[in-house]
Amino acid sequence: MSLLPPLKSLNDIATYIVADGKGILAADESNPTCSKRFDSISVESTEDSRRDYREILFTSKGMNGNIGGTILFDETIRQRSIGGVLLTDIIYSQGSLPGIKVDKGLNPFNESDSETLTQGLDDLDERCFEYRKLGAKFTKWRAVINIGADAPTQECIDANMDALAQYAKIAQKNNMVPIVEPEILMDGEHSAEDCLNASSRSLKSLFNFLDNYNVDITGTLLKPNMITAGSNNPDQISEDEVASLTLECLKQHVPDGLPGIAFLSGGQSDIKATHHLDAMNKMGGGPWKLTFSYGRALQQSALKTWLGKAENKEAAQAAFSHRALMNRLAASGKWSPDLEN
Ligand code: 13P
Repeated sequence: MSLLPPLKSLNDIATYIVADGKGILAADESNPTCSKRFDSISVESTEDSRRDYREILFTSKGMNGNIGGTILFDETIRQRSIGGVLLTDIIYSQGSLPGIKVDKGLNPFNESDSETLTQGLDDLDERCFEYRKLGAKFTKWRAVINIGADAPTQECIDANMDALAQYAKIAQKNNMVPIVEPEILMDGEHSAEDCLNASSRSLKSLFNFLDNYNVDITGTLLKPNMITAGSNNPDQISEDEVASLTLECLKQHVPDGLPGIAFLSGGQSDIKATHHLDAMNKMGGGPWKLTFSYGRALQQSALKTWLGKAENKEAAQAAFSHRALMNRLAASGKWSPDLEN
């Protein structure tokens, strides 16, 4: 076990996760999502193959010093390595804290075919109690907001942000830091202005609800999208424009006491996700740490290198370690494109 500092309060935990350019590895893909990722490399998704893949990530050298927190799915927090060690203990031994996804996915909102409401509040207190005993120090809940012809509606935004705040309160009651994730999806042809508008409305609503439920902001992390044009819009904005619009939006809505903002990658390429984060940190100016909580943008290259073959383990670990390091540099504003070669 590596020596972790004493983490007595929620603020200690949140601050540790995002200290010194460290960020978060989102490895909490549900089994259906993991099957989708494995389909792309023609690997069958089974309990064992998911374990093998995640063990490769968690034992990579690049975990140490770059990854302050690792988000797990319910199956993974209970799993042991081939050698019989709990995966959570491997994560701890790398100086990273295990966390757990606690939402239960999406249902249509008011029978809408374009808007959703995240589920999972009913038995959340009991589940959090168990996860804490299994070693989790933090939790994640993802709300999904779609941009479309008549979306997002304020009703859908408010219902999702209300649920996020209720979740955050329950996580804190169980001594775990809540990551609140209001994700405005990149899917679609919308403009960056549309994304800015939906993001601003969502963050405003979120911080109102967090305040209403007396959630301790100093023991909370925010996981937002960046402000980009929709992925099917041919008019993409530059990296610096993404960075400055995102910073502008965050400065308007996020209170100073929040320890850290850890972005999702949302379908951006590995390098774009790193570039945007670096640009924001070079511009600076906010009171919070700005770092990463990437799923695809941290794992893509490792997955494509692994291909389900044991002989590719070390190359896959090198690919993952490289992305982890590049993103730590970006979270410190010290990345440049030539470091990629
Ligand atoms: P991506 O970085 O792949 O968007 O995943 C982050 C995540 O955890 C979404 O909930």
